[in-house]
Parts: sequence; structure tokens; C-alpha cells
Amino acid sequence: MAILPILCYPDPRLHKVARPIAAVDDRIRTLVSDMLATMYDAHGIGLAATQVDVHERLVVIDVSEERNQPLVLINPELAWTSAEKHLNEEGCLSVPGIYDGVERFDAVHVRALDEQGQSRVIEADGLLAVCIQHEMDHLMGKVFVEYLSPLKRNRIKTKMVKQQRGARE
Ligand code: NI
Repeated sequence: MAILPILCYPDPRLHKVARPIAAVDDRIRTLVSDMLATMYDAHGIGLAATQVDVHERLVVIDVSEERNQPLVLINPELAWTSAEKHLNEEGCLSVPGIYDGVERFDAVHVRALDEQGQSRVIEADGLLAVCIQHEMDHLMGKVFVEYLSPLKRNRIKTKMVKQQRGARE
């Protein structure tokens, strides 16, 4: 298992659209285990392959308190969304230290392959539903701050660029 570097907003590679995974093979299973290690190391609840500069449709999630219920979604597609939406506070490992409100469906059903290549449908609500929608956005090249006003987004961009400059010095 390896800890992979996580891209930070506003890195343009975060806006690449991921392609579907044709075969769930050992290369993908190694990527899954590296992404889980990276997510747990960073104390995150979700990580999309896009964030580690791999532009393929794969996300890992664990919203459990005990950090022992990993969920692997390969080629995820939303099969159903609730009529209701709510504002939830979100953060992102690619935008460290920033939290803000984003409107998401209350509940979703997502069809995806697991790391064995088996297809299943996951019925999610609450934090898991929010997390799935956030991670699936990453695969489309979308970061949650893009839902915020241009003014807020520009402030966040400036702050991130300054932080990254500071980290390099
Ligand atoms: Ni994120």
C-alpha cells in the first residue's frame, strides 16, 4: 500500500473528466488499496481517483465512525435520486481547511462495480448520500467550491494558492 499525493485546488488536473474502467483487474485493486490508505491517512471520508491524478471512474468512501467500512465504487452511476434536496456543509481533501454549504439530494441509489467486478446498487441517505454525490462530481471534473458564488470561489482560490506557495517555501 502506498500513500498517494492528493491534488490541491485550483490544480487544473482536478477538472479532467474520468473515463470508465474497462476491466476490474489487479491494477485497479492495487489502486483501490492505495486510495483507501491515502484516504485514511488524510482522515477523509471519501476520495475520487481524480484527486490522485488518475482519471478513471473510481471512488472510495468510508463514513463510519470506526473507519472500518470501506466502500468501493467503480463506474458509479446514479440510478435514482430523491425529490428533496438539502444544504449540507462539505469539505474536501483537495481544498483543505474550507467548509461550505452545497445543496444535494437527500437520498440516492447508485449502481457500481465493487473491487471484484460485481455490480450492485447501494441505497444511501444522510452523510453517505452527500459523500457519494461529492465524489461523483470529482469524476466529472467538478470540485464543490464551484457551487459557491464567484466571489467566495475567488477568495478560496487566492487562499489556496498562497497556502501552496507557503508550503513550497
Ligand atoms: Ni472532494
